Amino acid sequence: MGDLKDKLVLVTGAAGAIGAAVVAAVRTAGGTAIATDLKAGEGLNLDVTSEADWQRVVAELDKTHGRLDGLVNAAGIAAVGSIEKTDFATWRRVQAINLDGTFLGCKYAFPLLRKKGGSIVNLSSVLGLIGGANLPAYSASKGGVSLLSKSVALHGARYAPPVRCNAVCPAFIAGPMVDGIASGTRNPQAIHQKLTQDIPLARLGQPEEVASLIAFLLSDESSFITGADLPIDGGLTAR
Ligand SMILES: NC(=O)c1ccc[n+]([C@@H]2O[C@H](COP(=O)([O-])OP(=O)(O)OC[C@H]3O[C@@H](n4cnc5c(N)ncnc54)[C@H](O)[C@@H]3O)[C@@H](O)[C@H]2O)c1
Repeated sequence: MGDLKDKLVLVTGAAGAIGAAVVAAVRTAGGTAIATDLKAGEGLNLDVTSEADWQRVVAELDKTHGRLDGLVNAAGIAAVGSIEKTDFATWRRVQAINLDGTFLGCKYAFPLLRKKGGSIVNLSSVLGLIGGANLPAYSASKGGVSLLSKSVALHGARYAPPVRCNAVCPAFIAGPMVDGIASGTRNPQAIHQKLTQDIPLARLGQPEEVASLIAFLLSDESSFITGADLPIDGGLTAR
């Protein structure tokens, strides 16, 4: 895990499995995490689909700290259903949270990140690299997150110090999202087994494993990595 001493990092979706693990990892690495989610919890309220929310949170950060060192866009939802079974409202909701929300985060946090250089980590997925017959909306949104991240990285590279931007691409990680995908099918237990069987390391990933990679990408130890899609998938995309 990277050293995040004196780093200020904003995390969206911080009430979720991966977001919460990222908040904990940032704090363990010596940084300050600003946790945000739809639900107030211990952090700030931020609906990632709301431009007004982003403007409010960024203005607060600017007033209080005058800078931002890291941004982790972890808010996201999945929706199960083939192209024939996915209705347009579901498609649009998934794009709104996963892709529009990541766009708004990168856009509105960027002016604070470029003040002293920074690192953005966006949550893509293995399903941003390969398709999923029953996850077309999710897969399309994550493909968008991966290429958005490369475009942000190329722009961020124009600054000195730069703003780096990378996408992490987890396979199935234990937590409510995978439970939700499985429960939307006829045989949730069989789906859990199948997801595990497809992974060469023969298990689901843990949120803490994803958080360690993200902490590394937020830190200066990853200073030459930008514009990358980093699979963290137990070997799933190796074959
Ligand atoms: N869990 C997995 O298997 C897996 C695999 C690959 C990628 N990912 C991605 O990682 C990210 C985190 O996943 P997770 O497993 O922690 O999911 P999770 O369901 O545990 O948490 C997602 C969080 O996002 C929040 N959220 C939803 N809509 C929001 C909105 N409009 N504004 C702000 N917050 C909102 C939820 O309240 C929740 O706390 C997601 O982008 C997901 O697509 C997850």
